[in-house]
Amino acid sequence: MKKIIIDVDTGIDDAMAISYAVHSPAVHVCGVTTTFGNITVEEATRNTLQVLELIGAADIPVYQGASKPLVREVTAKARLFHGENGLGNVVLPAPVGSAQAQNAVQFLISTIKENPHEITLVTVGSMTNLALAIMAAPEIVSLVERVVVMGGAVTVPGNRTPVAEANICADPEAASYIFQSGIPLTLVGLDVTMQTLLTREHLVQWRARDTKLSHFFADMCDVYMDAYVTVGNVRGCGLHDPLAVGVVIDPSFVRTVPMHVEVDTSGGPSDARTIGDRREHPEKAPNVEVCLEVDSERFVSHFLKYVM
Ligand code: BDR
Ligand code: CA
Repeated sequence: MKKIIIDVDTGIDDAMAISYAVHSPAVHVCGVTTTFGNITVEEATRNTLQVLELIGAADIPVYQGASKPLVREVTAKARLFHGENGLGNVVLPAPVGSAQAQNAVQFLISTIKENPHEITLVTVGSMTNLALAIMAAPEIVSLVERVVVMGGAVTVPGNRTPVAEANICADPEAASYIFQSGIPLTLVGLDVTMQTLLTREHLVQWRARDTKLSHFFADMCDVYMDAYVTVGNVRGCGLHDPLAVGVVIDPSFVRTVPMHVEVDTSGGPSDARTIGDRREHPEKAPNVEVCLEVDSERFVSHFLKYVM
């Protein structure tokens, strides 16, 4: 069983990623760290605690992390997609538990050092916590098993700007720093996540199950899908964050290509773009395994089996 930490900005698809990971027998969730992105870090912590309590996993510790990017101000949140509260405006009971006293960055450092080559970190929000952890303890670069990042768009358009994806936009300097750090990285970007869609038919099936959890997920995803329609995608919503967890559970869900990837931090029109050198003879050595193909049918059916 692989030991994972999930770094979240919970968020509708973050909530599904947490539930998928917790219910999957292939991974053990050692802890969940929170960051800003879709919403504030305080809201992400609250939502994470609520989701863990709802799925009966309140024993998994939650650690609150960064509230703002490394150098910039916090940019626009994703309330159009994730609702005012981040969970599609579905109201859950206030959390009984609270976050641990230890900060997310300290938790990442100590857990990676205490479990050399065993921890896979899955980041599905801004990448600030990991950047701060590497700055404080560079040795974790060679001690972590792998970092799987939901972020970026190497071969397809962005979703926050014409060329940039939301998690990279949330803190481009953090992403850029991590990409240059030498840490083993797998990039699960919009290249593949926009091919793994949850549809209205899936929500009908969830409602037919008639459990507290199935209604929660269906209600939340209704809001998410409405937002996708608003921006022109009528077929369903992307399973972004769950696919990052899926790649840890079964790497054969995707085909990856080693590539040199840089993050644009210019502040110009291509700010936060993940630029992959796809030339036949790139000048620099690969620093990222980029997911370019996904077996969406196999992944979506695995996700549906374990999400609740
Ligand atoms: C990513 O951005 C967030 O809105 C989602 O939770 C996901 O992590 C998709 O671009
Ligand atoms: Ca997210």
